[in-house]
Amino acid sequence: MTLAGITVASLLLLYVLTLQHFRCSENPRHPRLRLSHKELWELNRSTVFHGPRGFLDLQTVFLDEYQDRLFVGGRDLVYSLSLDHIAKDYQEVYWPATKSQIEECRIKGKDLMSECANFIRVLHSYNRSHLLACGTGAFDPGCAFIRVGRWAENRIFKMESQQVEFGRNNCPFDPSKSCASTLVGK
Ligand SMILES: *[C@@H]1O[C@H](CO)[C@@H](O)[C@H](O)[C@H]1NC(C)=O
Ligand SMILES: *[C@@H]1O[C@H](CO)[C@@H](O)[C@H](O)[C@H]1NC(C)=O
Repeated sequence: MTLAGITVASLLLLYVLTLQHFRCSENPRHPRLRLSHKELWELNRSTVFHGPRGFLDLQTVFLDEYQDRLFVGGRDLVYSLSLDHIAKDYQEVYWPATKSQIEECRIKGKDLMSECANFIRVLHSYNRSHLLACGTGAFDPGCAFIRVGRWAENRIFKMESQQVEFGRNNCPFDPSKSCASTLVGK
């Protein structure tokens, strides 16, 4: 993911996500692409996105520079955030694990809070109208297409029903397992 074009607002979000242990490079020959939390606040241009539920549990981010959106995957949720107003004008898709997935996860001895939910771990732009999202599905991974409308007047952000498929080889079962993914062709 390139940092070019990310606004300060989304940098803050990324900071919250991943840079908590970041230390500034002391070597001046290596230009910094990251700002400290303090530096961001001192720019007075930062806003925080908390999400309507007060917690995010963020695991995955995908920047669509062409559309000026930041797609963020968390626990049972995918958000579409505007790079101009990260705390306003956002949309979400709620995609929880099913009752039976949660029950089977519990029977396997997994933790209800930290493991038996659908943690979104994979987000890719699939084609001009759809995102591909995959989540752990309470230790039963699945993938789905999310329809994404183009431009402000057509702001669709909606899960395609009946399209959950092929999760097992494409997404980790365990939400704490780190993963990286790429989409080749389809
Ligand atoms: C940010 O705001 C603080 C307090 O309001 C002010 O002292 C500071 O100069 C501002 N910084 C910038 C870069 O505008
Ligand atoms: C994108 O892929 C989805 C899922 O296969 C399909 O339903 C949709 O028609 C495709 N859109 C375009 C613009 O090709």
